[in-house]
Amino acid sequence: MKTVSKWVGIILALVLVVGAIAAFYLKSKFENLSKRTLEPKVTAVPILSDSASLERGKVLAVACRNCHGNDYAGLDFFNDPSIGYMSSPNLTGAKGSATENYGDLDWTRTLRHGVNPSGKPLMVMPSEVIGQLSDQDLGSLIGYMKTVPEIEKPLGATQFTFMAKILAGAGMFGNLYPCDIIKHDEVQSIPHVEISNSPEYGAYFVRYEGCKSCHGATLNGGVSPDPISPPGLNITPAGNIGKWTLDQFRETVRSGKTPEGKILDPKFMPWPGIGAHNDIELEGLFNYLKSQPALANSPELDKKLKDMAKK
Ligand code: HEC
Ligand code: HEC
Repeated sequence: MKTVSKWVGIILALVLVVGAIAAFYLKSKFENLSKRTLEPKVTAVPILSDSASLERGKVLAVACRNCHGNDYAGLDFFNDPSIGYMSSPNLTGAKGSATENYGDLDWTRTLRHGVNPSGKPLMVMPSEVIGQLSDQDLGSLIGYMKTVPEIEKPLGATQFTFMAKILAGAGMFGNLYPCDIIKHDEVQSIPHVEISNSPEYGAYFVRYEGCKSCHGATLNGGVSPDPISPPGLNITPAGNIGKWTLDQFRETVRSGKTPEGKILDPKFMPWPGIGAHNDIELEGLFNYLKSQPALANSPELDKKLKDMAKK
């Protein structure tokens, strides 16, 4: 009996030691990822400031408000005792803001490469998507961002708990650094895409609004690493959208309420940035979605829906 309990003790101690080593390994893996500095080669785009371009930039910038606040002065992006605190930076150029000393090339580096002026890889900031904008649209967006009113707003410093670092190192939050999926040598975009109601324009819209990041590569459903987020539903014609008219689609992305009566939470489905676009653009987007093959729900989506139904 004695030797048995001795062995149990040794095994338990070993498990604890291995667990602690694994935890420290994962934590430092994450810390090393965040401490890197990167120097992507940045190609300048013309920054536009004529009134039509600023109008266009203003529409494109609505998508940024979801995370950077309606006044672009930044937010407490999340604040959770078990994970830690993260702010989304102040973009108004005011004293003390992240963009206070931004030059044109700095904007392009951040938005296309996901790396800030000091070479820091940016987390969560969806540069892999925003970087798909044509040169003209990106130049309009940056032109507009340089005109937003300066607002001084102090924000806390990002700080993760020990546990969060372990989970992040283990990849539990998905890929946190868009700069790791961006093909830096290839991010020079098409000069201009003419706005139209064509599915081709809709395909461009889908790229720069990142629908596939949440609805899956083939748009038939995706699951967020954020456990409290509902899944990105099937938006091929096999989903609800297949039954909607163009007007109902526009109404959905402008009001956040679907024809079936579902209220879409903008925290998870960023409809305000989509609905800000004009009727012709939304028609192009709708035409693109309707032109896709009608695919049954992806297995990840079905699994998540089943799990949710159990609760
Ligand atoms: C899903 C949320 C989200 C969206 C949408 C988003 N951002 Fe960000 N952005 C962030 C977060 C979070 C950070 C901070 C990242 C960090 O500190 O690692 C950030 C960082 C930045 C920075 C870098 C500031 C610095 O430190 O130099 C700029 C500039 C920026 N965002 C501009 C934009 C613009 C312009 C848009 C819209 C076209 C936008 N962001 C959309 C979340 C978002
Ligand atoms: C940040 C993630 C995210 C992005 C980006 C995103 N969506 Fe969604 N979308 C969701 C989630 C999550 C839901 C489900 C919300 C719910 O169930 O409450 C949803 C729901 C929808 C619905 C309602 C579907 C239904 O059957 O009720 C439509 C339509 C839709 N999205 C279209 C789009 C389009 C088009 C784009 C790109 C232009 C897009 N979404 C971009 C996350 C996203």
